Amino acid sequence: MISLIRKRGSEIDMQMPNLQKAKIRNKETVRILTDAYKVEESLKTIGRNLTYFIKTYGCQMNEHDSENIKAILEEMSFTEIDDMEKADLILLNTCAIRENAHNKVFGMIGRIKHLKEEKPHVIAGICGCMAQEESVVEDIKKKYKHIDIVFGTHNIHGLPSLLEKVIEEKERQIEVYSKEGDVIENIPVKRDSKYKAWINIMYGCDKFCTYCIVPYTRGKQRSRQHSFIIEEVKDLVKQGYKEVTLLGQNVNAYGKDLEGEYRMENLLEEVAGTGIERVRFVTSHPWDFTDAMIDTIAAHANIMPYIHLPLQAGSNTVLKRMGRRYTKEDYLTLFHKLKERIPNAAITTDIIVGFPGETKEDFEETLEVVRTCKFDGAFTFLFSPREGTPAAKMADDIPLDEKNQRLYALNEYINQYSNEANQKYLGKVVPVLLENVSEKDKTMLSGYSDTMKLVNVKAPIDALGEIINVKITDVKTWSMDGEMTNN
Ligand code: 5AD
Ligand code: SF4
Repeated sequence: MISLIRKRGSEIDMQMPNLQKAKIRNKETVRILTDAYKVEESLKTIGRNLTYFIKTYGCQMNEHDSENIKAILEEMSFTEIDDMEKADLILLNTCAIRENAHNKVFGMIGRIKHLKEEKPHVIAGICGCMAQEESVVEDIKKKYKHIDIVFGTHNIHGLPSLLEKVIEEKERQIEVYSKEGDVIENIPVKRDSKYKAWINIMYGCDKFCTYCIVPYTRGKQRSRQHSFIIEEVKDLVKQGYKEVTLLGQNVNAYGKDLEGEYRMENLLEEVAGTGIERVRFVTSHPWDFTDAMIDTIAAHANIMPYIHLPLQAGSNTVLKRMGRRYTKEDYLTLFHKLKERIPNAAITTDIIVGFPGETKEDFEETLEVVRTCKFDGAFTFLFSPREGTPAAKMADDIPLDEKNQRLYALNEYINQYSNEANQKYLGKVVPVLLENVSEKDKTMLSGYSDTMKLVNVKAPIDALGEIINVKITDVKTWSMDGEMTNN
């Protein structure tokens, strides 16, 4: 067996992150590389008899990155296990969006330290958005010497050579490019589901909302060429997949960074045309949501009537300080247009409470928008200052108690409307893609409806992976129960 123990004190710093550099946007054309990822023959067996464990934090982008990382590790003969304590290689794919995401990861890093005291051969790595933050990597370098590998969101394809150096040369590896590079088209993927698939349609974000770290950790907007996306969808259809979710930080802006006029509505149209049974997309920024996109969604039965449309705040002064580029009135106009043209659409949102300088009146305006829109659901957050972003430097004079009270009051409304929205489904028939078996009762399957409601239903196990009609018989706060029907 290969010895994994690192030479004491040996360390190579290949590349450290830099938030200032990450902010710079240049006009260089992004290269599309179809052969940048490769595993040397000699590395294909390096993980033989070794197991890996990956813990993923944060958004669907990270989930999908982990699917890529898993496939890379398996090409190197590592085997996945779901028990961290037993793994030879532990990777934490991290999220930087809020402070509590950070804290969770540092808690895990502490646990791994204890584990490595007992099992020094274990390799531990940090990747994802936190790996793109200077202060985090500095901390890891100085204080958490038991972490052997740090690699960033732009360095996933380089994992084989990083692992080789850690395993064979026993040197600590830190490789984080601050400047996003190219779009790499040949990274393999091991999908978590056999029925639904994530597909990146773009990377990065150019919006620079003042609170958000994403444009720094994920780099400038780079759309994938539509031909590669369509090929991927067609291949999934052939494999029997029922659903694809087109992923991006700001999917509505798809194509704006490419030559030509091909935009999100064209992509949606073409993806729908492949015959895949369900098309979803996240996340939409209200700014880029065009009428043409709305028409396309309305015109295709296989584009799901579910839209996640982050509001963030309902006060125009706060929206302006957030750099959101729309007003409350713009948001409401778009919201009503969506409801009018796609009448059965479920719309969910994200809201930040306690943004610096948010007054009681500002907050009341947010509640007013919530009362008007009666969202199907919402993710609500306390503002969390992120180092390097403009909002982190704004005077934040709202006491924590007050922020918590506002969050509580907001959540009361959100839960009430979510429940009301769900109640409307009682007695109705909805299509559900069955994807899970209940742990407790193997005759109960669950899945999501077209409008993204979680539905439990008694069904034979071989119905897994099928889209079936379910009549809703009971509505709970976070899910619904129903029975199979032929109607
Ligand atoms: N503090 C609180 N919430 C944030 N989000 C993004 N950045 C922050 C921050 N600094 C929220 C936004 C976004 C969601 C993914 O996370 O609401 O839409
Ligand atoms: Fe962050 Fe704004 Fe980009 Fe969304 S649109 S990822 S909130 S900067």
